[in-house]
Amino acid sequence: MERLSGDAMRSDAEVAQAWDANADQWIRHVRAGWDRYREEFNNPMFFAFLPELAGKTVIDLGCGEGRNTREFARRRARLTGVDVSRKMIAAALSAEAQEPLGISYREASFSDLSAFPVGGFDLAVSTMALMDGPDFEGAARATHRVLRPGGSLYFSVLHPCFVTPAQKWLQNEAGEEIGFRVGEYFSDDVHIDRWRFSAAPQENGDLFAMPRFPHRLETYINGLIAADFRILKIQEPRPTEAMAAAHPSFARLRRHLPLFIYFAAAKA
Ligand SMILES: C[S@@+](CC[C@H](N)C(=O)[O-])C[C@H]1O[C@@H](n2cnc3c(N)ncnc32)[C@H](O)[C@@H]1O
Repeated sequence: MERLSGDAMRSDAEVAQAWDANADQWIRHVRAGWDRYREEFNNPMFFAFLPELAGKTVIDLGCGEGRNTREFARRRARLTGVDVSRKMIAAALSAEAQEPLGISYREASFSDLSAFPVGGFDLAVSTMALMDGPDFEGAARATHRVLRPGGSLYFSVLHPCFVTPAQKWLQNEAGEEIGFRVGEYFSDDVHIDRWRFSAAPQENGDLFAMPRFPHRLETYINGLIAADFRILKIQEPRPTEAMAAAHPSFARLRRHLPLFIYFAAAKA
């Protein structure tokens, strides 16, 4: 883990540059289906958490190359995707050109949605992206502005209480995972998390280098409240028995902890 302190990596431009650097491999690996957590756990759970999408005007915050944006659009919603990475948006646009689903894309930060009119969307969704910007409160305010009264925001993020800078699986002498260490929850450092999809063949690329921000549980809850959202529900998704039987890495999550958390909030 590389720690960045002070003002390093606090601007949208720097975050965009970091994600542009990850983009080629991210696009290839996501489209190859190597993000097993997404395909076999997070998407089934998050889509069940969402409200009905059909007929709604929806903005996808931090849409990446559009894998999930296309899934939302296939549920008969009118989608707009925004992402701060120029390369991600270019890849999303080329997928839309190949298989038109009526999605518009725009290179923009979810913390600055001033390009969109007040109250233009029924619903804002975001999958595993709002933790990747430095300013959650700003993103919540910007999203609140573009939602119509009664509109809502549904998003997934890494669970801030467990995915911490000093995290570590704990094993017994037989190598079985018996627990999980959390640590440095209160650290204010931005750090670079280097990892790859575990299903991706080793020879097929490097580690991603993802900027991680010191968002805590209070960051999300208080950020939503400060932006005048009313929290509707949260979910700490737990793999089903069938998922756990299919993959040991899901079994340990079923037994020990939620790696992700979902929030739903409404504009009064
Ligand atoms: C882990 S990826 C998830 C992408 C997509 N939601 C998905 O599920 O495939 C995080 C995305 O957030 C984007 N991102 C980070 N900060 C952002 C910001 N301030 N505004 C918009 N997008 C941002 C990154 O460029 C990246 O594409």
